[in-house]
Amino acid sequence: MVPMKAVILFESLTGNTRKAAELIATNLQQEGWGITGVCPVRRPEMAAIQDADLVVVGTWVHGLFVVGQQPWGLGAIGHLPAIKGKLAATYCTFALNPGKTLDRLDTAVAGLGATVIGGLALNRMKLYDHAEEFAARLTANVPAQV
Ligand SMILES: Cc1cc2nc3c(=O)[nH]c(=O)nc-3n(C[C@H](O)[C@H](O)[C@H](O)COP(=O)(O)O)c2cc1C
Repeated sequence: MVPMKAVILFESLTGNTRKAAELIATNLQQEGWGITGVCPVRRPEMAAIQDADLVVVGTWVHGLFVVGQQPWGLGAIGHLPAIKGKLAATYCTFALNPGKTLDRLDTAVAGLGATVIGGLALNRMKLYDHAEEFAARLTANVPAQV
């Protein structure tokens, strides 16, 4: 396996997406990856982003629970610096139904010039399991694509 370095950028109101970021980082480290940083989208650590091979961007689902779901913070995500030309992956946390949130998040991150390799919606009641699943998918799939 090729060792990778990842940075995780999150947008979080009540803490679930931040917690997911920490869990994803821990799981990736257990798989032998390096983590250059875990930081809010609105306070990105430039060096951590520049040092990373893969940029993981996470946010939470905002909507009317079963309709109108959107990734929160698209404006801030659209201003993320320095991810052009990098690999990226996305995640969102949700309560009931993420709708098309991940697709919209992917579009925003791809719009920054990153190559989005995939993403996962994490149920806020199953953060531990879903963060582990997301990290496992990343470590299984990313080296083959680099
Ligand atoms: C104003 C508001 C709207 C929400 N809308 C939805 C929704 O449409 N669908 C859904 O599944 N969850 C919805 N949620 C739940 C959040 O996406 C979920 O709790 C998420 O984990 C919050 O992340 P955070 O703790 O990082 O802020 C909403 C939460 C809030 C506060």
